Amino acid sequence: MLPIHFAPLQGFTEFAYRRAHAKIAGAIDTYYTPFIREEKGVARAKDLKDLLFDIQAKKLDTYHVVPQIIFKDISEFDILVHTLEDLGIREIDLNLGCPYPMQTKSGRGSGLLPHPEKLEPIFLRIGELSHISFSVKMRLGLTSTDESQALIPMLNAAPLSHVTLHPRLGIQQYKGDLLLDDFEHFASKLKHPVIFNGDITTVEGIRAIEEKYPNLAGIMIGRGLLTNPNLAFEYLTGKIEDPLPTLKKIHAEIFAFYSEHLQGGDAQVLEKIRPFWTYALPSCKKINKAKKLSDYLKAVEEL
Ligand SMILES: Cc1cc2nc3c(=O)[nH]c(=O)nc-3n(C[C@H](O)[C@H](O)[C@H](O)COP(=O)(O)O)c2cc1C
Repeated sequence: MLPIHFAPLQGFTEFAYRRAHAKIAGAIDTYYTPFIREEKGVARAKDLKDLLFDIQAKKLDTYHVVPQIIFKDISEFDILVHTLEDLGIREIDLNLGCPYPMQTKSGRGSGLLPHPEKLEPIFLRIGELSHISFSVKMRLGLTSTDESQALIPMLNAAPLSHVTLHPRLGIQQYKGDLLLDDFEHFASKLKHPVIFNGDITTVEGIRAIEEKYPNLAGIMIGRGLLTNPNLAFEYLTGKIEDPLPTLKKIHAEIFAFYSEHLQGGDAQVLEKIRPFWTYALPSCKKINKAKKLSDYLKAVEEL
C-alpha cells in the first residue's frame, strides 16, 4: 500500500479542513498547506495564521502537516524558510508547480522551472540547511518538458526527501492530457523518491497508477479527495462508503470553526464555507443559489 498525500488546494485545504478531514476520514500520510508567500519583505500574515492553528493544535491532534512555500528567488526563499524555522518547522515543501499566471508571470511556481540559474542558489542553500527536510512539488515544465529534464542534475544533487510530480506543463493549468511518457522518463532519472499527483478520483485509479509505476513512494490526491474524502481510507481498507455522511461531518466541523473565528458575520461565513461543495456537489442549485446563511444551512441539512 502506498502512502496517500493530500495535495495543497488553496481556498479548500486550510486548517479547518485539514483538521476535520484528519479527525473524520483520515488515512492520509501528509497534509500540505496551500502555499505561503512573501509580501512586503515578510511571510504573508494570512498564510502564517493558517499554519499557526496547526502548530497550536499539534498538542491535541496527531495528523502530519507540512507547510508549502512559493518564491521567485533566493531572497524570498530565505525570508520564508527563516520564518518557518523560527516557528520550529523542520519540513518544508517547495512549490515549483503553480500554473496561475499571477504567480508564473512573477517567476513563481512553475514560472521558475525555465530558470535553472535562479534555482541553483536555492538548491545550494537547501544543502546548507541540513536540519530541515525539503521536498519539491513540481510540473514537467512551464512550456516544455525540456525544462524538467534540464533540472535533473540539480535536483539529484540536492538532499530532498521526495519529489511530487504533476505530469503537466504550467500552461496546461489543470486540464488536458497527463504527459505520462514524460513522467516515466523524468522519474527514471530522478534519484529521489517520487510521488505521483494528478487526476486520481477512484480507488481503481490509485491501483492503476500503483501497478503502472511500481517504484513510486506515494500518491498525492487533491480534487478527488475533496469529492470523496473517504478515498484514501477506501484504498487502505478496501471498505467503500457513501461519501455524503463524511462530507456532512467534515462540513459541520469547518462550519463550527468559521462561525467561531470569522468576525464578519453570516455573509463572511457563507462566502468562506460554500466552496466546500465545489468538487463534491458542483451542481447543487440550492447550495449554489442560497443568499442567506440560514437558507444555505437548510440546503446542506436536506442533502
Ligand atoms: C483550487 C486549487 C488550488 C490549488 N492550490 C495549490 C497550492 O496552494 N499549492 C500547490 O502546490 N498546488 C496547488 N494546487 C494543485 C494541486 O495541489 C494538485 O497538484 C492538482 O489539483 C492536481 O492534483 P488532483 O488532480 O489530484 O487535484 C491547486 C489546485 C487547485 C484546483
